[in-house]
Amino acid sequence: MKILAIETSCDDTGVAILERKSGKFKVLSNIVSSQTIHQNYGGVFPMMAKREHQVNLVPVLIRVLKQAKLANPKPETRNPKPETNSKFKIINSILEREPELLKQLLPFLEKYEKPDIDAIAVTNGPGLEPCLWIGVNFARALSFYWNIPIIPVNHIEGHILVSFLNPKLYTLNPKRAFPAMCLVVSGGHTQLVLMKKIGDYKIIGETRDDAAGECFDKCAKILGLGYPGGPIIAKIADDFKLKEKLTKVSKLGDSKLEIQNLSLPRPMLNSKDYDFSFSGLKTAVLYAVRDKKQDTITKKYVSKMCVEVQQSIIDVLLKKTLQAAKDYKVKTIILGGGVSANKELRKQFTLKTSPISKSFQKEKIAVKENTKDKKEEVAVCYKTDGRQNRSINVVFPDPKFSTDNGLMIAVAAYFNRKPFGKLKARKKASWKNLEANANLRVGE
Ligand code: KG4
Ligand code: ZN
Repeated sequence: MKILAIETSCDDTGVAILERKSGKFKVLSNIVSSQTIHQNYGGVFPMMAKREHQVNLVPVLIRVLKQAKLANPKPETRNPKPETNSKFKIINSILEREPELLKQLLPFLEKYEKPDIDAIAVTNGPGLEPCLWIGVNFARALSFYWNIPIIPVNHIEGHILVSFLNPKLYTLNPKRAFPAMCLVVSGGHTQLVLMKKIGDYKIIGETRDDAAGECFDKCAKILGLGYPGGPIIAKIADDFKLKEKLTKVSKLGDSKLEIQNLSLPRPMLNSKDYDFSFSGLKTAVLYAVRDKKQDTITKKYVSKMCVEVQQSIIDVLLKKTLQAAKDYKVKTIILGGGVSANKELRKQFTLKTSPISKSFQKEKIAVKENTKDKKEEVAVCYKTDGRQNRSINVVFPDPKFSTDNGLMIAVAAYFNRKPFGKLKARKKASWKNLEANANLRVGE
């Protein structure tokens, strides 16, 4: 089967075609048009993003169809006039509020044949409401015109399931893969989701204010760096660590040892729940920068700040996820969302969960028993503790699929083609009734 997927929940216009054939996935095309317009503002403006999606969708769809070799122009015949074509009247009513999109869609539908597609998948939430509606109405129009079923997809589920493109994970025996603890970290969300199987999710913790990616973005803005801030902070931090040979992996919260004079908070690190909070971290960066004389905000200071911001976010994400994984006795940790592209985050998650040799473990336990220094004991205890989780697999999406894209929506739609688990309760979506829901929650 072939699935055409559309993603417009934030500032990326994503369209993809995924084929499932003989038990294998094949990505026929996956194109993301990232909106650069927001770079000047250090954040996404929903109404601007909505306009950009309207302008981008049809050209991106044409490129995707061409790449997948599914774009077949109609033979030259007398085309019916739009106003006399009753099908076009319905398209007009579906895209009533998207005039820019309508203007491009009608000539496209006149020019191209119905492609060989079995389903149209679309993100219907969560996300920025005006942006979600563009994708949903575009999918509704195509579904109606081509008479192809529509599969609504939860954006968070897309971030989780994109890792299942990896044949190794998909073919894993469910008894060995589940339950899984999913950490979804993006510009809009930071959630810990317990996944008992595909389609069965429960949010056990989430951010109470800013998302981790949002914190990266806001700190970058304060430091006078560009947007999106996550990849920029990561690059500056990684380059600086390499240059200064700061290769020692921090023990939990101990990166302060490496970056003296600059210690940012680790918000909610020791709270007894699985929730997060990142707005205090951004405020700490704001105050630190505000209280410094302009001429002392050197390149080196900014670089140190980037290392510390990145490490502070990693410390909290790592500790909470490992704690949740332990408490829920999961077999797999699955990361997803834009922040999961972060190399240092991947490195530290892998390190804290990778198996160690027995002798190394014994040695560390001996240190733990003999040590009198409490601080060291805690660190060693944590280290062995994390590494003792030897049966936990950590799964990351291919970094290019961490940030928003259409492919993740196609993969999730494939698994949702027949309603699984709790999804059974959902009414069947069609072009007539599908709606966007900015506050959609996975598992509800
Ligand atoms: O998943 P995503 O593309 O969009 C949302 O669903 O929000 O995530 C975008 C977020 C941005 O905040 C961006 O700064 C962050 O992911 N991000 C990163 C990295 N790449 C993207 N954060 C840290 N390190 C990265 N390498
Ligand atoms: Zn996302």
